[in-house]
Amino acid sequence: MIIRNLVLRNFRSYDFAELSFDKGLNVIVGENAEGKTNIVEAIHYLSLARSFRTAEDANLIREKSDFAAIEAEVSEGSTKKKINVVLTSSGKKVSCNGKAINRLSELSELVNVVVFEPPRVLLFKESPKARRDFLDISLSKQSSIYLEYVTKYERALRERNELLKLDKPNEVQLEIVTDLLIEVAEKVVRYREMYVEQINQVLSKIVTTIKGEQENARIRYQPFARPDASFKKNAKSAFSKALESDLRKKVTSIGPHREDFKMSLNGKDVARYGSQGENRILALALTLSPYFLIEDKNKRPIVVLDDVMSELDDENQERLISFLTKFEQVFITSTSLEVKNASVYEVKNHKIARRNS
Ligand SMILES: Nc1ncnc2c1ncn2[C@@H]1O[C@H](COP(=O)(O)OP(=O)(O)OP(=O)(O)O)[C@@H](O)[C@H]1O
Ligand SMILES: [Mg+2]
Repeated sequence: MIIRNLVLRNFRSYDFAELSFDKGLNVIVGENAEGKTNIVEAIHYLSLARSFRTAEDANLIREKSDFAAIEAEVSEGSTKKKINVVLTSSGKKVSCNGKAINRLSELSELVNVVVFEPPRVLLFKESPKARRDFLDISLSKQSSIYLEYVTKYERALRERNELLKLDKPNEVQLEIVTDLLIEVAEKVVRYREMYVEQINQVLSKIVTTIKGEQENARIRYQPFARPDASFKKNAKSAFSKALESDLRKKVTSIGPHREDFKMSLNGKDVARYGSQGENRILALALTLSPYFLIEDKNKRPIVVLDDVMSELDDENQERLISFLTKFEQVFITSTSLEVKNASVYEVKNHKIARRNS
């Protein structure tokens, strides 16, 4: 998938910007605080209707303006789509070819952008939620059925938590809700397990390519119940063990919403033993891995790498750049990157212009 055109109106620091992009490597250069990340933030926004930097859409609207708009033309093989986003203080409107998009599941099939941003370096050291979010977002992009299961699971979880909050939850009701929760939890766990296995098929190769030496990188998924043939039985027994504490704390303490995964490099846990550079390379490799799991080349995501080069030594930078030429379309922001065979866009005084053509 490729973004061909982008028009921004009152988005962050831009009053107006119009850009056309090519396949391959697109480098956005400029000094600090000029508006490089703002551009890639807009591109990524198209894929989730959510910023990777802020939970508040209002922050995206240019100061003193009452709306922000992103218009983009995205092509997938010979299919072209026009995506429109308008943000106002009363909410957002997203449309594709003039037709309103109201559900996240519809959007998830329209535009796919994977993003690496500086805080990602801490992915393995952060709370499990950051890692679950990575799994949920990239898996939902690959499978809208998974997104449905996760949504169903969240609904069942809310129901169970509401029951637990009552003074004296009805035991029969609680059992029914728990069984329902386990039913959906199994789907979520099986999908996650399968996906992690798929990622493990490509991860070492990516890490080896960037590091230039043979490396063995793996994710180890930690489901809340053993996902063998008797998953339901295992899950039931885990839930009954947790019941007393759940009743006391009035919240569901186990399940897919509390799961985690660990990352290892050559058998060692990266969060505890990995260097800063290794953490960066592994987080980056993980971010890029979903790309290789999508067989239809036209559906492969647009890659956004915000400020990825800092802290990588020259050789890793060089290998990374040559690796990036394998992707359909990559956006990379930097204060000083010189790359051959790339389209370069320069940001200055909050204006962006193409430097070569
Ligand atoms: N809603 C907004 N309205 C106006 N300006 C904004 C808004 N949000 C952010 N900005 C401005 O955008 C600029 C930051 O842009 P951006 O984060 O894209 O910089 P950058 O080029 O990526 O910098 P760095 O190299 O430091 O990462 C800041 O000057 C900030 O004040
Ligand atoms: Mg930036």
